[in-house]
Amino acid sequence: RTRRPPGPRRPYARHVAIPPSRRAFSRALTRWHATHRRDLVVRRTSDPWAILVAEVMSQQTQIERVGPAWERFIARWPDATSLANAGPQELLRAWAGLGYYARARNLHACARVVSDVHGGVFPQAEEALKRLPGIGDYTAAAIAAIAFARPAAPVDGNIVRVIARLFAVEAEMPRARPAIESLARMLTPAARPGDFAQALMDLGATICKPRRPRCGACPLQPDCDADGLGHPERFPVKAVKKPRPQLHGPAFWIADGSGAILLRRRPKDGLLGGMMEIPSTAWRTQRWPLTEALGAAPVQAEWRPLPGGVSHSFTHFNLELTVVAGTTFDTTAAGSIWCQADQLDQHALPTLMRKVAAHACSSLAAGSGENLTKAGKTFRASDPIDRKLPGSRRARPAGTGH
Ligand code: ADE
Ligand code: SF4
Repeated sequence: RTRRPPGPRRPYARHVAIPPSRRAFSRALTRWHATHRRDLVVRRTSDPWAILVAEVMSQQTQIERVGPAWERFIARWPDATSLANAGPQELLRAWAGLGYYARARNLHACARVVSDVHGGVFPQAEEALKRLPGIGDYTAAAIAAIAFARPAAPVDGNIVRVIARLFAVEAEMPRARPAIESLARMLTPAARPGDFAQALMDLGATICKPRRPRCGACPLQPDCDADGLGHPERFPVKAVKKPRPQLHGPAFWIADGSGAILLRRRPKDGLLGGMMEIPSTAWRTQRWPLTEALGAAPVQAEWRPLPGGVSHSFTHFNLELTVVAGTTFDTTAAGSIWCQADQLDQHALPTLMRKVAAHACSSLAAGSGENLTKAGKTFRASDPIDRKLPGSRRARPAGTGH
């Protein structure tokens, strides 16, 4: 047997001591939450469908930021059955800018099962919720606890951090997750489990923050092992991460004679599955020399590479796309859609592709781009490729969502 790692003997020995103090612990947290809870738009409901939508959206961005998109979504599809009856294209468009489309597709599949199999009524038990498509451990527990007051313990990143600190959990993440989840279950009171979970989330978001937790303002400080050790920020202990690989690819901003831009639908499975793209090639660690890139272009065109490029972070890699602008009269490429540049908003373009569009529009409007075509055929700002471009940068998205 290996020796116990240095550090406190908890949390495992402490399980025994919990039940008598659990009530006091939850009382302290609840009292704090009564006056310090975040006023989140998505809290104004106990409807399982609305809660599911909020939780799915919050997987992409902070819960404080999902309010407007969530209200729009719920106004349009107020229950599972209404979304079940929606077409995939409608949903795809509504989801643009909200993150991985696979999540919307799962939500759609879930709505259909709730509608067709459960008569539009969500099951209440955590286990039954988990059997719905796209609903994982966290989401099932969140719906069970928040919508149905079932004794479930959803554990998000905030709760992982709070619990890892309270018990000074020495095991590394993500290996420590099961232990942290069982601690969360053990702490969860029978009464109002949803409020308890959301109180822990709020504590993690506002007091027990990743850096510089405000232990002096924390209602759980008397019970907190990490604070007792003097190094709360050391928890949760993280495994040393490998850096994300950097991938490269060209994107082809192709205009026809009328200034319409070539779009293409990505394969249904895989990254950005089913969404529209400005055509690109495979993405790889090696940069693409221009001649090789042009050999992989979807159509024959007159090309000019634009300066700079677009960077975007995905979960497992960083991507840098260079942009090559072209004009073509070959409008027959398989699977392509031609779209006026100022109408791109009407397609479900993921953030990466909107960045490419914004980059192409602004470089072309600035008149840059080395012309590769024969002398005398230089593109100018007045050429068709430019004329239809939106003058502003309104297509440029903020942030690094997907
Ligand atoms: N993060 C995700 N869901 C949340 C919720 N219901 N309350 C607080 N933070 C959250
Ligand atoms: Fe987090 Fe500090 Fe509170 Fe412990 S005392 S739970 S480390 S804020």
